[in-house]
Amino acid sequence: MRTIKQNFKVQFSYGVHFTEGVFKEDNTLLRDILSQANVGSSSKVLFVIDDGVAKAHPTLSDQISEYASTYSDVFHLAASPILVLGGEEVKNDKRHLQLLLDSVNEFGICRHSYIVAIGGGAVLDMVGFAAAIAHRGIRHIRIPTTVLSQNDSGVGVKNGINAFGKKNFVGTFAPPAAVINDSLFLHTLNDAEWRSGISEAIKVALIKDSDFYHSIKRDAHKLVARNMAAMQQLIFRCAELHVEHIGGKDPFEFGSSRPLDFGHWSAHKLEQITDYRLRHGEAVAIGIALDVIYSKLIGMISEAECDNILDLFQKLQFDLFIPELLQQEPDGKLTLIKGLNEFREHLGGQLTIMLLSNIGTGVEVNTLNEALIIQAVGELQQKYQPHSSTTV
Ligand SMILES: NC(=O)c1ccc[n+]([C@@H]2O[C@H](COP(=O)([O-])OP(=O)(O)OC[C@H]3O[C@@H](n4cnc5c(N)ncnc54)[C@H](O)[C@@H]3O)[C@@H](O)[C@H]2O)c1
Ligand SMILES: [Zn+2]
Repeated sequence: MRTIKQNFKVQFSYGVHFTEGVFKEDNTLLRDILSQANVGSSSKVLFVIDDGVAKAHPTLSDQISEYASTYSDVFHLAASPILVLGGEEVKNDKRHLQLLLDSVNEFGICRHSYIVAIGGGAVLDMVGFAAAIAHRGIRHIRIPTTVLSQNDSGVGVKNGINAFGKKNFVGTFAPPAAVINDSLFLHTLNDAEWRSGISEAIKVALIKDSDFYHSIKRDAHKLVARNMAAMQQLIFRCAELHVEHIGGKDPFEFGSSRPLDFGHWSAHKLEQITDYRLRHGEAVAIGIALDVIYSKLIGMISEAECDNILDLFQKLQFDLFIPELLQQEPDGKLTLIKGLNEFREHLGGQLTIMLLSNIGTGVEVNTLNEALIIQAVGELQQKYQPHSSTTV
């Protein structure tokens, strides 16, 4: 028997840039990024825009065209920007992915072209996936437009769409060529979208950085009042912690450990059982609350720490109880608990769940006790829906 051993490394590197007014004529950030790869020739660029963003920023397509003519020595548009549906539906229905692949074919987008996606996390996930699989990988630049996509989903290496009623069932790990966070987009978010992404910052602060957690707590009233400086600070630190983590030990998640998914085992299930009425960030807030109470129930954190965290979510006006938490399967089990196994399947290997040992320190465990999960759901209900007739 003979073996040829293969062994190589591929280096990835990309910038997460912060700016204001990315398509203003004198803002050369995007031009500079595009000029890096195809020196001496003009890159072909296909823009894809979330229709929610296009509606809120009606001059965006014109701004892109003007920007392209100003910097025509560096890049040109492959076609007029393509609009895609904003929100989770773009990941639920494969036809959106197909339409984008059709465009890549029709407009002759090659591996040296760029696809620039402008939108919320859902659109970025779908477009990133299309870019990753067409021609086995087209360079792609993300311009995230929500708090959640600027501080978490848009700065990492994952993309994908939903299938079989499961989140992110089909997808790849494919680092972007660059990420551009433009704070001007945040002005047009409604209050729920503005709030939603804050839960990802609380998540990463709780498991990694107590100073960051306390700064979010101090700024809570400013965040509720939509203070942009406070939000920009939160987004920067949150993005930085995500980028550091991803670039650390296991960017492509070969192991079973996934600390950044603290609070997510139940969040993904709640998004699905509410038919995505619950936003990702809203589901994450409930998921964190549940795992924080669970951490308290098993004696990992104190009651005071648990209350401190729940109080922050309340200050930020998150709903921490929804009736779907009580939804049952025909065998009487909470539907929520099915989320545990689905989470394990998605990760592969042994179930690995992040809990807290104090504010700022996450600890992984390999089992969760169903009776205690039910007790934690009961606590959420008692605190946040005290007058209900149905109980767990
Ligand atoms: N790839 C990852 O690592 C990762 C990580 C976390 C979350 N996600 C995914 O991100 C998605 C959630 O993303 P999201 O929270 O950004 O929401 P979203 O993409 O669902 O967008 C929410 C809504 O806001 C609109 N919108 C976006 N930007 C706007 C703007 N500037 N002004 C006005 N409206 C705007 C959209 O059209 C949409 O209707 C989920 O699918 C989640 O699974 C991915
Ligand atoms: Zn998340």
